[in-house]
Amino acid sequence: MKVTVVGAGAVGASCAEYIAIKNFASEVVLVDIKEGYAEGKAMDLMQTASLNGFDTKIVGSTNDYTKTAGSDVAVITSGIPRKPGMTREELIGINAGIVKTVSSSILEHSPNAIIIVVSNPMDTMTYLVHKSTNLPKNRIIGMGGALDSARFKYRISEALGCPASDVNGMVIGGHSDKGMVPLIGKAVRNSVPVSEFLTEERMEQIVQDTKVGGATLTGLLGTSAWYAPGAAVSELVRAIAEDSQKMFPCSALLEGEYGLNDLSIGVPCVLGKNGIERIVEIELSDAEKAKLTESAEGVKKTNGLLEVNA
Ligand code: 2OP
Repeated sequence: MKVTVVGAGAVGASCAEYIAIKNFASEVVLVDIKEGYAEGKAMDLMQTASLNGFDTKIVGSTNDYTKTAGSDVAVITSGIPRKPGMTREELIGINAGIVKTVSSSILEHSPNAIIIVVSNPMDTMTYLVHKSTNLPKNRIIGMGGALDSARFKYRISEALGCPASDVNGMVIGGHSDKGMVPLIGKAVRNSVPVSEFLTEERMEQIVQDTKVGGATLTGLLGTSAWYAPGAAVSELVRAIAEDSQKMFPCSALLEGEYGLNDLSIGVPCVLGKNGIERIVEIELSDAEKAKLTESAEGVKKTNGLLEVNA
């Protein structure tokens, strides 16, 4: 498994680090436009290999995609991150151009790569990669739901006073403060619905805290978060590398699933060696369905800006 990570900023470097530490890939190529930056991050990370016990080779490249040739998976993290007070949607103008150029450079050297999109606004950037590359839909995956679900599980575990590993739950919908749909009614501690332990008010608080999970961190850090985004990406790449058939909420191109068409949005997907092996249509309550539909309207509105900026 060879993985390219484009963008050696905090998120990209964190992706490379977690992929390496989990030791399932033979090589990670880190690419950045800033002269020497990816090489520096790659060297720093390689100097942790003997300490952290991994054999993955990490290579840095200043915008030279020949080094990425033959990648099985490529992760796009490039673009500008949001600053406090900004929404992910406000990044569209600059990031659309970057994501389009990067995806074509990746495919020039790795025509069979599965692409994972992290750049924001993520659902719209995922849709843009579909529109600009015409790749089969299984090969383009938007990373947002895996991250939002991890934040959701953290908030639930905090409320329950239990380890996050005891909790399961999913966030579907758009990767935006308004668009996320944390499925609190389906969240469990072991196999017991969390509603058995928490009041309605506490559950609503968890939902709200989850939805602004990224914004809360941006406020604290002054820029977008990186550890959980990197860890979430590494789990998606691992599912592909190991052909694990595990289910993650990912932004996938919908063609009628959930009654939605012509957009990429977070829905449960089974991941394996072909990328998205299938989209899983779970039974949603009327309230969850309404929230997903509203979220889709928001994503479509942002996709509309794409045409203006194209
Ligand atoms: C976040 O939510 C990077 O969009 C990302 O932290």
